Amino acid sequence: MRRTNKVKILGTGSCAPKGVLRNKDFSYIIDTSDEWITERTGIKERRVSCDSETTSDLATEAARHALEMAQLSAEKLDAIIVATITPDTIFPATACYLQQRLGCRKIPSFDILAACSGFIYGLANGIGLIESRQMKYVLVVGAETLTKITDYQDRNTCILFGDGAGAVILAPSNDDSEFLSCNLYAEFDSTGMMVLPAGGSRIPATHETVNKRLHYMQLKGNEIFRFAVVEMCNMLDNELSSNGITMNDIKYIIPHQVNLRILKAAADRFNIPMEKIYVNLDRYGNTSAASVPLALDEAVRSGKVKRGDLLLLVAFGGGKTWASSLLRY
Ligand code: ACO
Repeated sequence: MRRTNKVKILGTGSCAPKGVLRNKDFSYIIDTSDEWITERTGIKERRVSCDSETTSDLATEAARHALEMAQLSAEKLDAIIVATITPDTIFPATACYLQQRLGCRKIPSFDILAACSGFIYGLANGIGLIESRQMKYVLVVGAETLTKITDYQDRNTCILFGDGAGAVILAPSNDDSEFLSCNLYAEFDSTGMMVLPAGGSRIPATHETVNKRLHYMQLKGNEIFRFAVVEMCNMLDNELSSNGITMNDIKYIIPHQVNLRILKAAADRFNIPMEKIYVNLDRYGNTSAASVPLALDEAVRSGKVKRGDLLLLVAFGGGKTWASSLLRY
């Protein structure tokens, strides 16, 4: 979809909890090894929040860093959008906690649930609010404390996830920086590829659901693997052809940090050198909605991404949902 009124990223920020869980730490609780995890996923360690640390704590810190880079005070914000599958509470929305913590005006603040694609879904909403000239400054955050819904008795899933948050400030653009496209997709996950079964209206929380460990994420890793490779390739193909560019024009693909083998498989199909794919999953694991903005902030702050660079964001996750966005940073 071509954009009319231009929107750009004014500032980025991120936050990861201090706690670190290394691969070798898992060998004390489940039957696994550093070698297996490294070889199958590319992950070496992940950040873990402590019991009292909430998703909004991480989101607040990431938002403050983004506001600082944007040289904007929180009172100037016109809306807050938080993408998360691990909200502080089912309601109020995590965005409302954030509004209070940042000291914002009585601005619209709401959550988006699109799992690992949630941040790009949030961007599309924020861009729309600014393009329609309803708002000027929108804070979009992807934040998760996934380790709180991770089953540490399940070796198939517990090694994958970590906690963190990333944020951007969106604003109207009067220079070369702009979002060129944002494409969102969903198809109902009829096979239960990625699901947190209980706690909603379908299976309300009871002692039995707790005993059956139904409040933890359940995954079919192999199916996700295939889905992620196919849709990542489709999105890359679509973004290049619909924007009339080639891979050479792109400085970095910033993908959802899911599994190094998934990223390598997509890179192989497109003949993309791995240096073009921004990877930090070795240090953070899969942080769902936080993974793209966490990687983006790291790439910006390290100087790897500069103003004028073309970036392609891609993500895929529970729902099933998937999403991509092309921007000139
Ligand atoms: N340590 C050692 N062995 C293990 C472990 C472990 N942690 N986990 C599984 N195994 C074993 C399995 O039991 C299996 O053994 P078997 O052959 O005796 O049955 C063997 O290793 C191979 O298992 P596979 O599932 O085939 O391994 P695969 O190579 O597919 O890797 C993985 C599994 C890492 C989960 C991969 O499929 C993956 O990364 N998928 C993507 C998952 C993901 O990140 N999803 C995120 C989306 S979730 C969301 O959106 C909220």
